[in-house]
Amino acid sequence: MKIGVISADSTTESRVALTPDAVKKLRRHGFEVVVQSGAGLAAYYTDDSYQTAGADIASSSAEVVEQSQIITTISDLPAELTETLKPKQIVVGMLDPYRNTQLETYATKGATVFAMELLPRTLSRAQNMDVLSSQANLAGYKAVLLAANEYSRPFPMFMTSAGTVKPAKVVILGVGVAGLQAIATAKRLGAVVEASDLRPSAREQVESLGGKWLDVPMSEEEAQKAKATGGYAWTPSEQYMKDQAAVVDKALSGADIVITTAQIPGRDAPRLVHKTTLDKMKAGSVLIDMAAGTGGNVEGAVAEQTITTDNGVRIVGAANIPSMLAAQSSDLYANNLVNFITTLIAEDDANTDAAPNQLALHLDMEDEIQGALAVTHEGQVRLAKR
Ligand code: NAI
Repeated sequence: MKIGVISADSTTESRVALTPDAVKKLRRHGFEVVVQSGAGLAAYYTDDSYQTAGADIASSSAEVVEQSQIITTISDLPAELTETLKPKQIVVGMLDPYRNTQLETYATKGATVFAMELLPRTLSRAQNMDVLSSQANLAGYKAVLLAANEYSRPFPMFMTSAGTVKPAKVVILGVGVAGLQAIATAKRLGAVVEASDLRPSAREQVESLGGKWLDVPMSEEEAQKAKATGGYAWTPSEQYMKDQAAVVDKALSGADIVITTAQIPGRDAPRLVHKTTLDKMKAGSVLIDMAAGTGGNVEGAVAEQTITTDNGVRIVGAANIPSMLAAQSSDLYANNLVNFITTLIAEDDANTDAAPNQLALHLDMEDEIQGALAVTHEGQVRLAKR
């Protein structure tokens, strides 16, 4: 059974879906792998390194799709490739399912499409397949470095003969996987960190990393709602959003760096920083909006652009930070895909020296993981509306 790797659009993406190390692992499971020539270059993986790991190299993405039973990708397939899919081919990647406009086409072609973002996060056997976590963790770290680079003062406190340098005050809004890593990184650089999230359970994690929790008042009813969502974001009331805006306004008036990470799968990102607050911020302060690709947490943020406001505040619209750490992000992403793909073959075939053509696919929509990830299967779009 052959697995294909196609090149991402190099103008927007440097990651590659499978690395040479992943190819070796898949070969050990009995798969064959074909990689589009140059697919790994932006992540520092040459065609030679893939060949040494046991992959074939194809000259075009069309050739990869033609040869492969399972096609791996970072993001959605280009339309011209989707059109060429044959029944029972499988696509695995971060397919942005709720914004994906090709689901009907995938279904019509008879392809089974697995959107990795839909993985059930709390299922322990799925944790090593969690692409959102593996990528967000790296993104949270890099967001702090981006901020440090944009900021014209240092993060740590320095006592020098020329005067004392105050530590930077960093505020993190949204404390999921990326936010927690951002807190840890900013603390390591010597900053004073404050953070907030609408999940009250995040407080303990913030404090354990040495951050100060910014508390937004919550009604008893909202506290119950927050508990009932099993730790995931809940839909806040108008009053909560007003109170949150006031807390954010106060914290950001004195902040040097702000990193926003709040996203809601399938919906536009919540607006957490309004222009009235930006107007009060210090000249030279920096905001990194990690949700810029889905509408932005910060008013005025533009994906992949840095905007400077009239009062000298810089807003960095960071839509795809994992791509900036392409080598490491690809390693972890590829591990996530290998861990998932190897569950798609019949158990007797896993971990054997079976010849490649003897592997048998075991697709089972009743399986908690496969059933959650499959957005099209046997001609049907399976994605539930949000
Ligand atoms: P995300 O990328 O969807 O959002 C980032 C953070 O923003 C989240 O903490 C969310 O609560 C927060 N947020 C959303 N809307 C907000 C608003 N209006 N105001 C303030 N904060 C807001 O989150 P991520 O990192 O993907 O994690 C999502 C959830 O999954 C979290 O509850 C996390 O703890 C959980 N998780 C559980 C895992 C496990 O149990 N193995 C692994 C990874 C995540």
